[in-house]
Amino acid sequence: MNPIKRARASAPGKVILFGEHFVVYGKPAILASIDKRVYVDAVARNDDKVAIKSNMGFKGTFNKHDLESVKEKKFRSLVQPVLAAANDAMQEFDASTGLDLSIRAEFPHAVGLGSSAAISIATIAAVSSLFGKLSRQKICDMSLDAEKIVHNNPSGADSAICTYGGLMLFDKRRGARPMNSKTDMHLIVVDSGVKRITGKLVSSVKKLREGNAELFDGLASMSNNITSQALEAIKSRDYAELGSLMTLNHSLLRRLGVSRNVLDKLVDIALRNGAFGAKMTGAGGGGCIIALVNESSKRKVLREMKNYNAFVSRVEHKGVIVEN
Ligand code: MEV
Repeated sequence: MNPIKRARASAPGKVILFGEHFVVYGKPAILASIDKRVYVDAVARNDDKVAIKSNMGFKGTFNKHDLESVKEKKFRSLVQPVLAAANDAMQEFDASTGLDLSIRAEFPHAVGLGSSAAISIATIAAVSSLFGKLSRQKICDMSLDAEKIVHNNPSGADSAICTYGGLMLFDKRRGARPMNSKTDMHLIVVDSGVKRITGKLVSSVKKLREGNAELFDGLASMSNNITSQALEAIKSRDYAELGSLMTLNHSLLRRLGVSRNVLDKLVDIALRNGAFGAKMTGAGGGGCIIALVNESSKRKVLREMKNYNAFVSRVEHKGVIVEN
């Protein structure tokens, strides 16, 4: 019998401050990792099964190389990338054991906080560390391959921020550029409770772009300008300016058709209670909004959001970590 080996890795969730969707078409985005993480424990086993359990409502035992062995439709988009990520990580070391994977997320799935990227990244990091070591960039690239199984055309932004953490400017051509600006930003993240599928929203934007290139290009160029101005506002810690740029970015995303009433309502509540600015974050269609607040508006906004899952996050600087 092989000696049982065990490894644990974790990766942070993320928010997109500026530029979601347009980043798929080459425009820049600004992202931050949040102080809530996904933890994956990996243990080698002596067969070719991968047994997965999670605190996200799914568990099951699957054939290692057979993504189709994930029969339950509602969990496919969650489990298939995990299986693919685990297989790829083992292949890097010509390893061929089975695995027990235990996944614990500190934030909900399918709400725009990067859970699928964080799960793939923590899985690759945990599984690979049973056999050797992979660089962060390799982990990031491999997680993007796993993401492609379920998201039509990921920009790579989620994989980059959940791998490296911190505050980051990202575009497809130049990749991730860390922003070293010290920030004391207080963000409130509010989950609307409406689940959505990133791939579907990315497809809906593709359709809009194909149907009305002029409108799309106009919005994309505005997004580009807003992101450049936001970079300056972050550098000078001008949060009033940064907030109004976030709110402006939200109107662009509404025009793009990826917001929905509940998100507009949450943005409105945040603004009425003194937030510097607020916007939906991630693919939209449901999921979360973020609000930029100071100490006094923080209390007010949180109080008004008491019927939702709302929490305060600072920018987390730790990306993927292999724990002992
Ligand atoms: C999803 O978190 C962000 C999107 O821009 C898609 C992507 O970047 O791949 C909507």
